[in-house]
Amino acid sequence: ERLPELLRAMPKAELHMHIEGSLEPELIFAMSQRNGVAIPYASVEELRQAYAFTNLQSFLDIYYAGASVLITQQDFHDMAWAYLQKAKADNVVHAELFFDPQTHTARGVAMQVVIEGLHSACVRAGTELGVDASLILCFLRHLSEEDAFATLEQALPFRDKFIGVGLDSSEVGHPPEKFARVFARCRELGLHLVAHAGEEGPPEYVWTALDLLKVERVDHGVQSSKDPQLMQRLARDRIPLTVCPLSNLKLCVFPSLDQHNIRALLDAGLVVTVNSDDPAYFGGYVNDNFLQTFAATGLTAAQAYTLAANSFEASFADAGQKKRWR
Ligand code: ADE
Ligand code: ZN
Repeated sequence: ERLPELLRAMPKAELHMHIEGSLEPELIFAMSQRNGVAIPYASVEELRQAYAFTNLQSFLDIYYAGASVLITQQDFHDMAWAYLQKAKADNVVHAELFFDPQTHTARGVAMQVVIEGLHSACVRAGTELGVDASLILCFLRHLSEEDAFATLEQALPFRDKFIGVGLDSSEVGHPPEKFARVFARCRELGLHLVAHAGEEGPPEYVWTALDLLKVERVDHGVQSSKDPQLMQRLARDRIPLTVCPLSNLKLCVFPSLDQHNIRALLDAGLVVTVNSDDPAYFGGYVNDNFLQTFAATGLTAAQAYTLAANSFEASFADAGQKKRWR
């Protein structure tokens, strides 16, 4: 089969993955044992069986429980290194990894442990795998503005180890404007800005992410297709959407992959990219997302090329690197 082979072999950038969402059940169990952190599942199989989600929140509850086994700098390194080896195998040449520091600092893990553990794996990926990897710090939107400001403060001593900030966790009821002042501060600091918007939440949240947070990319954004004016805005300004098809399927954003709106988004001229979101929880890494989405929706080789080109255009790689990719 030629199309699956093209999808696997083509160089690509991954721009929307949460590193804590790459923790495979086997690694959760190994870390649970080596750190003496109990988890409420008796076996790897029992844990995997809990991965039956009905919406975003039902996933987040299990995702935060899984992340509770991460204690040492080595744990954070091992988690990111495992993902980056998978990325290499999928011909990802550039990866931007989200991390959720508040999940860890709230448990008493130091910001330094989190950032230096993840960053050392990114450096190692550059030298040992030829994968260019960087970090984006995400604020948890179900927590307060004050908590986000405190998190930013704790991270600033490590400003050179992350390239931007994002906004994730429970979307509905936590609109972007809650974090307008935090994002304004991050903008002054020269950080790149992204936010999850329009995953489960309404198109209005995409508008406010753009106009109030001034984000450069929208994570998910699939609900934008409900608002023709928003679609025009995204196309006109070439605002990328980091779409995660298997995530949308597993969190019941779409009833089946063949009903995903990725083709409509592409046909409207949007800068769409394909990503894995939380690969250990949603049944696959980035190539699984490409292969299953193409099989279900009938996208073509030309669209595969567009998606790969979009991933490089949408990345925060420097201009010189982007030129070399073209
Ligand atoms: N955190 C990890 N994955 C997420 C998602 N898909 N949406 C919001 N927050 C997340
Ligand atoms: Zn996400």
